[in-house]
Amino acid sequence: MSIQVKEVKEQIRQRWNESAEEFDQCPGPGIHSEREKKAWQAILVNAVGGKQLKILDVGTGTGFIALLLAEYGHSVTGVDLAEEMLAQARDKAKRQKLKVKFQYGDADELPFEDNVFDAVINRHVFWTMSDPEKAAAEWARVLKPGGKLLIIDGDWNNFSSWKKIWKAVATITVGLTEGVDSSTKSHGLRDFEKELPLRSQKRPEADLRILRALGMKEAEMVRFKDPRAHGLLDNLKYGYYQRFVVTAIK
Ligand SMILES: C[S@@+](CC[C@H](N)C(=O)[O-])C[C@H]1O[C@@H](n2cnc3c(N)ncnc32)[C@H](O)[C@@H]1O
Repeated sequence: MSIQVKEVKEQIRQRWNESAEEFDQCPGPGIHSEREKKAWQAILVNAVGGKQLKILDVGTGTGFIALLLAEYGHSVTGVDLAEEMLAQARDKAKRQKLKVKFQYGDADELPFEDNVFDAVINRHVFWTMSDPEKAAAEWARVLKPGGKLLIIDGDWNNFSSWKKIWKAVATITVGLTEGVDSSTKSHGLRDFEKELPLRSQKRPEADLRILRALGMKEAEMVRFKDPRAHGLLDNLKYGYYQRFVVTAIK
């Protein structure tokens, strides 16, 4: 690993360790209502399928995806390089009485053999990769032939002018109604993150291109509305998010 890549990874690790305690309270990542939880579960069931599978959640963070999948009876392993995020995930699993294996692991040097998982999933992680092509190749490596790779993310960067205005109004509205300043909490972008490769690329087009170049089959994308955007006020606050699930088969 080059010194520069090592430095970026260390910055990423520190950044998420610092955010771990407040992460689930932030408007974006956490679950804030039963309706929101059900919407996320529906998205996952639709994308992963109902059959009980062996699933890897890469960059699991506080275990958002891993725990939702475990509730459906999947056998889930969550890896992350930020120990504080993993500690939060383990606490949540204990409180929810769910069995998930949370362990330290680097997304582009995974501690697993080839061809072991039925599905590899990640949410809000691909954009943080310093080498997205390498990371995606690593995720494909640990998938069984016929297994499914799922990338859940958003095109956080390419807002049209009116969406930029909407986002600014939404940020103020969230601050006023929830007492949360989303620009300074864990989701405020750090300087080094502005330079990450996927920040400057149009998504999910870049995701599809990377997966197809790896020889993954049936690469496709489904857009979905942010699960929080329900009703007039919440649509104003969260409706501008463009989210998508990219799937491909090994
Ligand atoms: C925005 S958080 C998303 C967490 C979780 N997937 C979710 O949906 O709430 C990004 C996570 O990716 C992790 N991460 C970033 N780079 C990583 C890497 N190279 N290997 C493992 N985890 C990584 C961070 O530590 C952080 O927990």
